[in-house]
Parts: sequence; C-alpha cells; structure tokens
Amino acid sequence: MKKIFITGASGFVGQHLLPALKLEGYEIVALSRKVRDTSSGVRWVLGDPLEADDWQREVDGAYGIVHLAGEPIVGKRWTPEQKKLLRDSRVVTTQNLVNAIAQAKQKPAVLVSASAIGLYPKNQETELDETTRPADDFLGKLCQEWEDAAKVAEVHGVRTVLLRIGVVLGRDGGALARMLPIFKLGLGGPLGSGNQWFSWIHVADVVGLIRWALASESAQGPVNAVAPNPVRMRDFAATLGKVLNRPAFLPAPSFALNLMLGESAQVVLDGQRALPRAALRQGYSFRFPNVEDALRDVT
Ligand SMILES: NC(=O)c1ccc[n+]([C@@H]2O[C@H](COP(=O)([O-])OP(=O)(O)OC[C@H]3O[C@@H](n4cnc5c(N)ncnc54)[C@H](OP(=O)(O)O)[C@@H]3O)[C@@H](O)[C@H]2O)c1
Repeated sequence: MKKIFITGASGFVGQHLLPALKLEGYEIVALSRKVRDTSSGVRWVLGDPLEADDWQREVDGAYGIVHLAGEPIVGKRWTPEQKKLLRDSRVVTTQNLVNAIAQAKQKPAVLVSASAIGLYPKNQETELDETTRPADDFLGKLCQEWEDAAKVAEVHGVRTVLLRIGVVLGRDGGALARMLPIFKLGLGGPLGSGNQWFSWIHVADVVGLIRWALASESAQGPVNAVAPNPVRMRDFAATLGKVLNRPAFLPAPSFALNLMLGESAQVVLDGQRALPRAALRQGYSFRFPNVEDALRDVT
C-alpha cells in the first residue's frame, strides 16, 4: 500500500482529501498540532510542522507528500507578528519537510505543495497563467518564498507540483462558508466594486487536482488550481443569490471591508483572473467548470 504523508489534513481542503485518498487505497499518515481521532482509518502523528522534530521520520518511505498546513490568510488582521506567522507557517514548514526529504533513505516520488494565486498581480483584467511573474506585494513575495522552498525537493529527485489555489468553494469552509449565512438572509451582494475578477474552484476539484498530481507522472511545477471560467464578483454574487433564491444586490463596500479586515481585505477586494492552463494542457478534466453548477452543489 502506498503511503501518503499529509500536513494540514485537519483543515478545510484536507477534510475533503482524506476520504478520497482512503477510497483510492492509500495508507494515510497525517500531521497535526492537536491530538486527533484515529478511528477514521487515518494515522495521525502529533507534531508542529514549524518545528524540526520526530514527525520528520514519517517522510522516509512515503510515496507522496501533500503539504497543506498554513495559518489562515483571512480572519485576523495582518499585524507584523501575524505576517510573520503567515509566512513561517508556510515557508519554514516547507523547509522542514524538504529537509526531511533530504535526510530520508527512501525518498518520496512526489511532493504536492499548496501555494496560492495570491502569487500573481492583483486588480488587473489580464489573464494570469503559470508563466505570469509574481507580484511585488506581501502575498506575492510570500508565495514565491513558499514555492522556492518546495522546489528544493527537485534537487533530491522528487517530482514537485506547486498548486496555486484560488478561492475554494465548499459548504463547510473557506470564503463561501462565511458568505452563506449573509446571503441566506437575503443580505448578500458583491464585495467591493463588483467589477473585480473572482477566480474560484470547487473543493472537489482541488481534491481532484491533488489526486491527479500524486498519480500523474506528467504533473510537475506550477499548476493553477482554479476553474476554467472565472467570473466577476458581481456575477458571482448574483449567481449565489439565484441558486439560493434570495436577493443579492446589497453591496459590501470596500471601505467597510477594509475597516473590518484591514490589509487582508485585499484577498477579496483585489480581483484576479487566473486560468488553469497547465492542468488543462496536461489533461485534467474539471468536475465543476461553471460557477452556477458549483454553487448549486455546495449550497
Ligand atoms: N481555502 C482556500 O480558499 C485557499 C486558497 C488559496 C490557498 N489555500 C492554501 O491551501 C492550503 C490548505 O487550505 P485550507 O483552506 O484547507 O487551510 P486551513 O483549513 O485554514 O488550514 C489547514 C491546516 O493548517 C494547519 N495550521 C493552521 N495554522 C497553522 C500554523 N500557524 N502553523 C502550522 N500549521 C497551521 C492546521 O492543522 P492542525 O491544526 O491540525 O495542525 C489546519 O487544519 C493552505 O496552505 C492555504 O493557504 C487555500
């Protein structure tokens, strides 16, 4: 049985990934900073990916590594301390994983490491694909450092896939779970101007892309994990209202979001029009290419 070692498996994406990998017959070992219930057929290892420690031994002999751990980007204000935690919980954890790979006698075949479309420039009409250069802002630099740390695994002969994830849509986590209660009350609407592009992906397709990246020898390097049809924020809000059968024209103005969220408001206010060119070129077929179908499934 092939072993997969996962960090951040207790999170939003991880909770969808675990059952899918179990169904595929992988042996799953998951790292968490908290004691977790092992009855689900997952072997949980207690440890902090920010610290070099015993957990690193689990990398030896694994077929694949999936790295999803990271302090949530939205939620807390980006104080200097929070920015350091956002960075270290991604960059230092990746370095610890790659150091474990360097030391492993039996090295993994593949590392699938999360990244984000936050790498790219914001607020542009331009289509962003895997060849677009990183932005010179906080998220751009963070994602570049995160990916650079992961790419060191290639030196050790490990096929490395950098999943640049867009806004993940699922009922039970991420941005949509925050928006749904407001929209269900009929009080939802576009965030900010509404004109900005919104690069979304159904959580089933994030799971699909991780499974594909683990299994497909041709998957390598940066891969945008976004649906092939991004939409403008105003159309996203209108579609969400339509599938919920609720009005959705009350805009949340930028100044209010900036007040509430501080600099982290840029994640929802600054649009990005990202396309999954690498995944499509390499043969990945999206389960949810269109936003209305995706929203009908998750609401
Ligand atoms: N969801 C999205 O829309 C989205 C978009 C773009 C990129 N991504 C990236 O994809 C990855 C997975 O996303 P997700 O939404 O599943 O993440 P999540 O639910 O916010 O968190 C994943 C896990 O990371 C661990 N973690 C949280 N804070 C940490 C810290 N300070 N230090 C070390 N570990 C920490 C936690 O595991 P334990 O508590 O069990 O240790 C948590 O369950 C993340 O790296 C995220 O940045 C997500």
